[in-house]
Amino acid sequence: MNSFCARMFGLTLFVFLFLAIAVQPAIAQQEQATHVFHRLIPAGDTCATCHKAIYDQWKASPHAANGVECTVCHGETTAKDFAGLPGLSTCENCHSDQVAQLKSDPFMKGKTCVSCHEAHIFVEHKKAAPAGE
Ligand code: HEC
Ligand code: HEC
Ligand code: HEC
Ligand code: HEC
Repeated sequence: MNSFCARMFGLTLFVFLFLAIAVQPAIAQQEQATHVFHRLIPAGDTCATCHKAIYDQWKASPHAANGVECTVCHGETTAKDFAGLPGLSTCENCHSDQVAQLKSDPFMKGKTCVSCHEAHIFVEHKKAAPAGE
C-alpha cells in the first residue's frame, strides 16, 4: 500500500467512525445509567440557572411536590458517577411495580419509562402529536 492509499484508508475509516458516532438514534433511557462528568458549577448558580426549561417542567411535576430533587435521579454534579441519563434502576427505587411490569410485559418490549412519560414532566401519558405536525 503506498502512502496515498494509506491516507485514503485512514480518511474512509475516520468518516465511517464519525458517522457511527454522530448518527445515533435519539436519546432514550437505557437500562444502565449513562455516566458523564458535569462541568463545574459557578458559585451562586443553581440548576435552574442553566436548565431553566427542565427546571420549570420538574417544578410543576409530582416529583418536585414530593421532594424528589434533581440530585435524587442524577446524583451530585461533582460525583464521579453523576448520571447524565438516569437508568431504569433509578426509577426502580421508588416505582418497583412499574419497572417489574416493564421488564416482564411483552407489550413493553423495547420501551423505557421515557417512551411514554416525558422526562421531567412525569405526570400524564405522553400524547401523540396532532395530525399534520
Ligand atoms: C425522577 C427522576 C428525574 C429527576 C428528579 C430529574 N431528572 Fe433529569 N433526567 C431524567 C431522565 C430519566 C433523563 C433521561 C431522559 C432520556 O433518556 O431521554 C433525564 C435527562 C436530563 C438532562 C439531559 C437530557 C435533556 O433533556 O436535556 C438534563 C440536562 C436533566 N435531566 C436535568 C435535570 C434537572 C436540572 C433536574 C432538576 C430540576 C432534573 N433533571 C430532575 C430523570 C430525572
Ligand atoms: C453554569 C451552567 C450549568 C449549571 C448551573 C448546571 N448545569 Fe447541567 N449542564 C450544563 C451544560 C453546559 C451541560 C451540557 C449540555 C447540555 O446537555 O445541556 C449540562 C448537562 C447536564 C446534564 C445532562 C448530561 C448529559 O449526559 O446529557 C444533566 C443531567 C445536568 N446538566 C444536570 C444538572 C443539575 C442537576 C444541575 C444542578 C445541580 C446542573 N446541571 C447545573 C450547564 C449547567
Ligand atoms: C425518590 C423516589 C422517586 C424516584 C427515584 C422516582 N420517582 Fe416517580 N414519583 C415519586 C413520587 C413520590 C411520585 C408522586 C406520588 C405518586 O404518584 O406515586 C412520583 C410520580 C411519578 C409519576 C406520575 C404518577 C402519577 O401519579 O401520575 C411518574 C410517571 C413517575 N413518577 C415516573 C418516574 C420515572 C420514570 C422515574 C425514573 C426516571 C421516577 N419516577 C423516579 C417518587 C420517585
Ligand atoms: C407504554 C407506555 C408506558 C410505559 C413504557 C410506562 N408507562 Fe407508566 N403509565 C402509562 C400510562 C398510560 C399510565 C396511566 C396514566 C393515567 O392513568 O392517567 C401510567 C401510569 C404510571 C404511574 C402512576 C401510577 C399508576 O400505576 O397508575 C407511574 C408512577 C408510572 N406510570 C411510572 C412508570 C415507570 C417508572 C415506568 C418505567 C419503568 C413506566 N411508567 C413506563 C404508560 C406507560
